[in-house]
Amino acid sequence: MKTISPNDLSQPEFHRLLIGSVGPRPIAFASTVDAAGNVNLSPFSFFNVFGSNPPTLVFAPNLNRHGHKKHSLLNVEEVPEVVINVVNYAMVEQMSLASAEYDRSVDEFRKAGFTAVPSEKIKPPRVAESPAAYECLVKDIITIGEGPGSANLVVCEVILAHFEEAIFNEKGAIDPYRIDLVGRLGGEFYARAQGEALFEVARPQKGIGVDALPENIRNSTILSGNDLGKLGAVTALPGADEVQQYRESGVLGALFDEARNGCQYLPDLLHQRAKTLLAGNQVAEAWLVLLQIH
Ligand SMILES: Cc1cc2nc3c(=O)[nH]c(=O)nc-3n(C[C@H](O)[C@H](O)[C@H](O)COP(=O)(O)O)c2cc1C
Repeated sequence: MKTISPNDLSQPEFHRLLIGSVGPRPIAFASTVDAAGNVNLSPFSFFNVFGSNPPTLVFAPNLNRHGHKKHSLLNVEEVPEVVINVVNYAMVEQMSLASAEYDRSVDEFRKAGFTAVPSEKIKPPRVAESPAAYECLVKDIITIGEGPGSANLVVCEVILAHFEEAIFNEKGAIDPYRIDLVGRLGGEFYARAQGEALFEVARPQKGIGVDALPENIRNSTILSGNDLGKLGAVTALPGADEVQQYRESGVLGALFDEARNGCQYLPDLLHQRAKTLLAGNQVAEAWLVLLQIH
């Protein structure tokens, strides 16, 4: 472990560690206007949703390397309204272009080639190409620190939302494969939430917990932390009868033979079998295998 105090590094050096290790971060593609109505469009990955009653989004334009306020911040100070457009894979290169340091008078919708659609309740337009866009009122701007890299948390309340029809599945829920979001990591890295990057974790009931696993399982050199998490998420263990029946079914016959004839260590073979079952999310059967040890 490297243990580092922020005071021991320069601000840009610690910034790089933060953005390299906190991620992937969602991206707010923020559309704002100044008092004269000039439009600005810039991405911010210091961004997230913080509540739904009222729906609350926060993004943070830092002071730039010269310690100056970014145009988006100046705009929301003048006109406390913003459309937060989400960013999907199809728009990532144009979004990146919009992040360049254009003059305040430059409209990044035009510069990056996006289509501006008038908002219904606020002055800044939304991005037609974005699969979800939130019209927001700026409720607060919280300044933390001073100088380059200091944060200005722009606290936004959603007053109207727009969603592209195509991102919904048959049940009316937003389908992650269809919305195809991207996130920001450190350096020039992005993550696309698609293909093998997407996976599901079963929502647990109040599981027995990793602390309740038998010691040989908890200290296994074969089972991983993720395996233990799956095992600890069950609410009850199979009974002795079930374990016995499983043994007598012969499913593990070859494995027991291998232990006997090949002089393999039986618990290791059982742990390996359970690991394979867990990889396929067959948690109940993995338990039947592991409980053969007792
Ligand atoms: C994907 C992405 C995420 C970014 N996130 C942030 C951020 O969270 N905060 C920030 O201050 N700048 C961030 N930037 C840089 C700003 O987009 C950039 O400084 C931009 O020029 C600001 O525009 P403005 O001055 O017109 O507001 C990000 C850039 C990219 C490409």
